[in-house]
Amino acid sequence: SAKFFVGGNWKCNGTKDSISKLINDLNSAKLEPDVDVVVAPPFVYIDQVKSSITDRIEISAQNSWVGKGGAFTGEISVEQLKDLGVKWVILGHSERRHVIGEKDEFIGKKAAYALSEGLGVIACIGELLEDREAGKTFDVVFEQLKAYADVVPSWDNIVIAYEPVWAIGTGKVATPQQAQEVHVAIRDWLKKNVSPEVASKTRVIYGGSVNGGNSAELAKEEDIDGFLVGGASLKGPEFATIINSVT
Ligand code: 13P
Repeated sequence: SAKFFVGGNWKCNGTKDSISKLINDLNSAKLEPDVDVVVAPPFVYIDQVKSSITDRIEISAQNSWVGKGGAFTGEISVEQLKDLGVKWVILGHSERRHVIGEKDEFIGKKAAYALSEGLGVIACIGELLEDREAGKTFDVVFEQLKAYADVVPSWDNIVIAYEPVWAIGTGKVATPQQAQEVHVAIRDWLKKNVSPEVASKTRVIYGGSVNGGNSAELAKEEDIDGFLVGGASLKGPEFATIINSVT
């Protein structure tokens, strides 16, 4: 199957000092060679991370502006990210959808713009607990997928991150079977609505309370191609364990 992909989403955490220590830990960790590894620091620390982290690890942003830069107070443009050596951007994260209020259409436009400028996109999707309890998991996930599919020029540079909202930051990880079931559904959707080739090539990674103790079981599932890790990516040795859970 596709090359394993592990991203560390640091969210709004860290200081110059704590990040310097985390980078030292990552630089000295022994990482399986056949895994794409990406970390997403807060914008203000990207330059620090890029200049001190091993080339083995690529940098992602946690968001980007929807178009070319200009008079958009508080925003960061794709061009600026590229200027700092950033290769990826996380878009559609549940915290931006549900805390900040970003909508499907806006997220799709951001993805299309970032891709058109050559950034890779970690495209997040995932249902709320109430959606799952109402039996609407697939409906919600397919609608979010469609918002990307309607506008992206190509899927070559997209990794899909399935992150059930009820599993994020809660310690309630999806079971391997729960995650696998949705990953298969995502692939089926891509097969029917994009192409069989995109369905088989696109990496679908799981996020939500992944840690050093549960990653190996999840990684055994056929359709789990990696992880997007929040809290546990702030601890170097544990993040390395997750990276090395590739099977
Ligand atoms: P946690 O790993 O802290 O649950 O966060 C997951 C996540 O949101 C990664 O983007």
